[in-house]
Amino acid sequence: MNILDAVGKKQSTQKERFEKVRTLVYPDSSDACVTLAAEVAEMVRSRQGEGKNVVLGLATGSTPVPFYRELIRLHKEEGLSLGNVITFNLDEYYGLPRDHPESYFRFMHDQLFDHVDIPAEQINIPDGTIAMDEVYEWCLGYEKQIEEAGGLDLQILGIGRTGHIGFNEPGSSQDSITRMITLDRVTRQDAAADFMGMANVPRSAITMGVGTILNARSIVLMAWGSNKAEIVQEAVEGEMNDRISASFLQDHSNSTFLVDSAASSRLTRFRHPWLVSSVEWGSAMKKRAVVWLSRSLNKPILKLVDEDYNECGAGELLASTSEAAYKVNIDVFNQVQHTISGWPGGKRDADDTNRPERSTPYPKKALILSPEPADAFLGMGGTIERLVEQGHEVVIAYQTSGNLRVADVAAHKFASVVLEMAEEDTEEGWKSQSDYAQEILRLLDDKGEFGIDPERVRSLKGLILRGESRAAADDCGVGYEAQQFLDLPFYEKGRYRRFQRTDEDSDAMRILLEAEQPDIIFATGEAGDPSSIQALSFKAFGEVWESLDQAEWRKNCSVWLYRGRDEAFESHEIDMAVPMSPDQIDGKGEAIRKFMSVNQEELGSPNRNREIAQQYDALGMAEYEAIEAFQRW
Ligand code: GLP
Repeated sequence: MNILDAVGKKQSTQKERFEKVRTLVYPDSSDACVTLAAEVAEMVRSRQGEGKNVVLGLATGSTPVPFYRELIRLHKEEGLSLGNVITFNLDEYYGLPRDHPESYFRFMHDQLFDHVDIPAEQINIPDGTIAMDEVYEWCLGYEKQIEEAGGLDLQILGIGRTGHIGFNEPGSSQDSITRMITLDRVTRQDAAADFMGMANVPRSAITMGVGTILNARSIVLMAWGSNKAEIVQEAVEGEMNDRISASFLQDHSNSTFLVDSAASSRLTRFRHPWLVSSVEWGSAMKKRAVVWLSRSLNKPILKLVDEDYNECGAGELLASTSEAAYKVNIDVFNQVQHTISGWPGGKRDADDTNRPERSTPYPKKALILSPEPADAFLGMGGTIERLVEQGHEVVIAYQTSGNLRVADVAAHKFASVVLEMAEEDTEEGWKSQSDYAQEILRLLDDKGEFGIDPERVRSLKGLILRGESRAAADDCGVGYEAQQFLDLPFYEKGRYRRFQRTDEDSDAMRILLEAEQPDIIFATGEAGDPSSIQALSFKAFGEVWESLDQAEWRKNCSVWLYRGRDEAFESHEIDMAVPMSPDQIDGKGEAIRKFMSVNQEELGSPNRNREIAQQYDALGMAEYEAIEAFQRW
């Protein structure tokens, strides 16, 4: 089926019967974007033949970037002209100069317009620089321009974590039009990294309204990565209301959610497939269903009875295995029980038939990959400490420097301290340090409120973060000599939401893996938004890993996934649950606090570990203070 085929309002098939808007799932974002771009190209070409224009509504954010890259490729390599395309962008921050690196004006030019042949006069982007008292008139004018262009043929959308489209925050009505709005706290928090701190994120924006968007003849909303899974499920399967403006797409006659498999994972047909179709009851599916049953009835696994299975739509499970509830219960109970292990590196001289990790070799060489420096501590600080205590050789490799997260104040503080020390020195021995500090202070000053850090400043910020990482690793018992700072080039050369990986990144990963030849690897980012630092870092690792399939050490190396900044694993997805004592969880909190740049939500990461323990407890497992969760790759 084509993405842009007019389908009319959603007709439910059995499998998709909980979905109130057409949802197409692709294995990954690039497949989806290549298909969509081909269809858009087709539309553009056929209109060219008729001497007509195509009017596109465009979005910013990292989500549409792969789509734009494919359009650029089609233009450069396959001679596609976009000369007959008129564009209207959804939104713009209010108060940002157009040349600010985070303005949507600049973003769109960097990501698309500067590389294709859409005439400048056919590009329309809300103007965030107009005077406050002219905004109202300006917005009416924007609506009129869209109308005069013939209305939007296709509106491209991403989705924010609050479920917003454009910047239509919760409370935006279905018939709202282009206007100025105040940004939600969550939205500003999500943009904080782009702006190097929440304080720099504008408080308001101009956005097309929900009504403006719904007037488009067709709408495609894209979403990638596990962090979007929950909001996609709510928008697609939940009630249509103004709490989630994307849910209004349910009311459009030609709208489509285009998602990758990670973002689709919470839809009923994937999360609880037995509710919508008949399934193969392998052991993973059994575990998924029984854990869900136990959680939704708030009853420990071993207390579930036949009626519970029947009443909740899992009766087929009992029928298909011709087993009574108690047998299935015990089977799944044991499966979950066996995920619990205080020996993340395997238990020496122990029978490992039912343990998540092998007992040999012992001790192991463990390599922990941390995309940004804080990730490893957020996701597995307690487990790192355990691995060290249990005698394993632990190496932490920080894949990127993380320097974009460090606030100006930190660099300012460091330079000022150096300067003061230099001033106290009368012998002139500190001349070069003092010159350096002065230069940093000058660069910080010159770049102004919204400027980009020059390389010197980024490198100082990277060093500050190295100091913090060392302190955090020290809390977990890992010494300086066992820490590697890879500073992957994609990060050093890039900016949030538009990083691009090259072979240099893979080279660095290859050198690391070949030098370390670990027995066990812990990594994260496999289900992240494809343009996130976590996903790009994982890809760099994953590709090299695949290419090393002939290496002897690699055949005996296990790979575990953890979740640092991405969505936590659900109980049924966990293959290894490492329990933590109250002291250990406090220690983890201490390590995380070494990073000045972690935000409030990340500081709460030990609570995620407490929640997992509570979930295990509710399933009827032993009651632990906290659990760090892992999945086999
Ligand atoms: C901002 C934009 C939205 C975009 C959202 C998600 O709020 N105004 O148009 O959909 O961010 O961004 P990303 O695609 O980077 O996840």
